[in-house]
Amino acid sequence: MCGIVGYIGSQDSKEILLKGLEKLEYRGYDSAGIAVMNDNGVQVFKEKGRIADLRNIVDEDVMANTGIGHTRWATHGVPSKVNAHPHQSTSGRFTLVHNGVIENYDILKREYLQGVTLKSDTDTEIIVQLIDLFVNEGSTTEEAFRKTLTLLKGSYALALLDVENNETIFVAKNKSPLLVGLGETFNVVASDAMAMLQVTDQYVELMDKEIVIVTKNEVKIQNLNGDDISRDPYTAELDASDIEKGTYPHYMLKEIDEQPLVMRKIIQKYQNDRGDLTIDQEIVDAMNDADRIYIIAAGTSYHAGLVGKQFIEKMAKVPVEVHISSEFGYNMPLLSEKPLFIFISQSGETADSRGVLVNVKEMGHKALTITNVQGSTLSREADYTLLLYAGPEIAVASTKAYTAQIAVLSILAEVTAKSRGIDLDFNLVQELGIVANAMEVLCDAKEEFEEISRKFLSTTRNAFFIGRGIDFYVGLEGALKLKEISYIQAEGFAGGELKHGTIALIENGTPVIALATQESVNLSIRGNVKEVVARGANPCIISMKGLETEEDSFIIPEVNGLLTPLISVIPLQLISYYAALHRECDVDKPRNLAKSVTVE
Ligand code: F6R
Repeated sequence: MCGIVGYIGSQDSKEILLKGLEKLEYRGYDSAGIAVMNDNGVQVFKEKGRIADLRNIVDEDVMANTGIGHTRWATHGVPSKVNAHPHQSTSGRFTLVHNGVIENYDILKREYLQGVTLKSDTDTEIIVQLIDLFVNEGSTTEEAFRKTLTLLKGSYALALLDVENNETIFVAKNKSPLLVGLGETFNVVASDAMAMLQVTDQYVELMDKEIVIVTKNEVKIQNLNGDDISRDPYTAELDASDIEKGTYPHYMLKEIDEQPLVMRKIIQKYQNDRGDLTIDQEIVDAMNDADRIYIIAAGTSYHAGLVGKQFIEKMAKVPVEVHISSEFGYNMPLLSEKPLFIFISQSGETADSRGVLVNVKEMGHKALTITNVQGSTLSREADYTLLLYAGPEIAVASTKAYTAQIAVLSILAEVTAKSRGIDLDFNLVQELGIVANAMEVLCDAKEEFEEISRKFLSTTRNAFFIGRGIDFYVGLEGALKLKEISYIQAEGFAGGELKHGTIALIENGTPVIALATQESVNLSIRGNVKEVVARGANPCIISMKGLETEEDSFIIPEVNGLLTPLISVIPLQLISYYAALHRECDVDKPRNLAKSVTVE
C-alpha cells in the first residue's frame, strides 16, 4: 500500500518519478505527489486523485536532478491534497514520503511536538517534524534521521530530502518493502522494481531497520548502529512488456487471458528432465514431517488456500486447516505437535500474513511461502518458497495469481503424495495441460460471458454464488471478484446452507450463480437451485460437460474433478469484469482498494 519512488542523477527527475508512480499506482491511488530539489530549493506538487491528476499540476519548467514521489492509499487522514505526500517540516528544510503505519505517532506527537502546528492528519508528518526538531537541537541530518527511526514503532519505507544537501536521498525501511536501483550515473529508490525498470534492472534489496544514503554515484547501506553493510545487486527479471497493457483495454482482461500461458509455464518450471513434477526435497521433507498443515492467507489467496486444502488432504492425506491471516494473528487455534505453515500471497507483502509468519517463526515452526514475487518479504522470511511464475499482476483484482496458486498447490500435493507412496489415478502434468486448453476455450468465449453478465447483472443490486464442496470455494472467489470491481453486493454460500437463513434475501429476479462441476453433489446443488427459483431467483447455472442439463447458462469443458476451480473461476472472472464495465467502474483500480496490503 502506497508506492514510493526516488531519483538522484543527472537527468531531470520529474518524468522519471511520474512514470515510476504510474507503475506503482496499483499500490494505492487516492492521492499522489512529487518533490523535486535543485539549487533553488525543493518544490512540492501534490494532488488528490490519480497520477494523471498530479501530472496536470506539475510545473513543466522546473528542472531538478533529485526527487521523490508517492502514490497514496490513505490510512491516517482522508484522501486529500493536504494529506497527500510528500510532507514537509514546518521550516521547509525536510521533505518526506512514507509507506507504512507509525503506531506510536500520537505518543511521539505529545512527547516531542507539542509546540509544532501540524498541517495534515497523517502519521508521516510526525516523522519529518521530528527530524527537523533533532537537527535544530544540533544533530546532523543523518543523526536526526537515525534517532527518529529508533523512536518509530510500526512499519515504514521512507525517502527524505534535505534542502541543505541536494546531493543525497536518505532512505530507510522497516516491514514495508523498498529497493534501491543502481545506474551508471544515477541511483533510484522504489517500492517495487517495476517502477524503475524504465531506467535500470539492477536492484539492491533492503532489510528491515536499514538506512541507506543514496547519492548519484554511491549507495551506502547501514544498520541503525551505523555499521556498513554490503550486499550484491540482483537483476530484476521482469520484461517491460509484462507490465504494459498492450492492446488490452484493462490489465484485468489481459491477466485473465494470460491464464493458459501461466498454466503451461508452471508445468514447465516444476517439471524435471524426465517430465515428472518436482519440488525441492527440503519442502517435501517438511510436508512429510508435519502432522498438520496450516495455510494462512487473505482474500483471494485465502480462497486458493481452501482449494489447496482439498488437494493436500485428498492427494497427500495430510490434514490441513486454512486460516484468514488477520484472524489467526490474534486468535490462534490450538496447534498440532508438528505444524507446517504455508503462506499463500501473490504479493508476498501482505502485512497480516507477515505478522503471522514472524510469530510462528518465533515459536520455532517451519514455514513455506507460495508467492508470485521472488525476494518479497514473505519469501525471504519463510524457510522455503514456491514461486507462481504468473508474471506481474497489475490489476487490483487478482485473477491469474489465483489460478497459479491453485496449480502450484496441486503440484505440492502431488509431489508429496508420491513421496508418501500414494498412487494417484491421474497424471497431473497431463491434467494441467488439459486445464490450460480448457482455459483457452473459456477465454475465447468472452462474448458469451458479456451476454450472461448483461442478462443477470446489469441492473441488480445484489447477487449470490452457490456451490457445494470445491464449487463453494470458487463461489466465494466469484463473489469477491464481483463485489470488488462492480460494487454489486455479492456473497458466496454453500448450497445447503442457504435455507438456514440466507434464502430470506431471495426476491423476484435475484441472480443466483450456481456452480455444478462436481458429480457427487450435482443433484444436490441443482436441488438448491430449485429452492431459490421457487422463491423468484434468476438462476445462472455454470456446469461442466458431462453434468449439464438444458437449464444451464454455460457448460465448461470437462477437466479432472479436483482441478475444476482452475477453469470454473474463469466465467466468474469474466462476468465480473463485464459487470464492472457495464457499470462504468474503474476495473483495474476499484475504489478504496490497493493491490499490495502492507498495513495490518
Ligand atoms: C482480491 C485480491 C485480494 C488479495 C489479498 C491478499 O482480488 O487480490 O483479496 O488476494 O489482499 O493479497 P496477497 O495475495 O498479495 O497476500
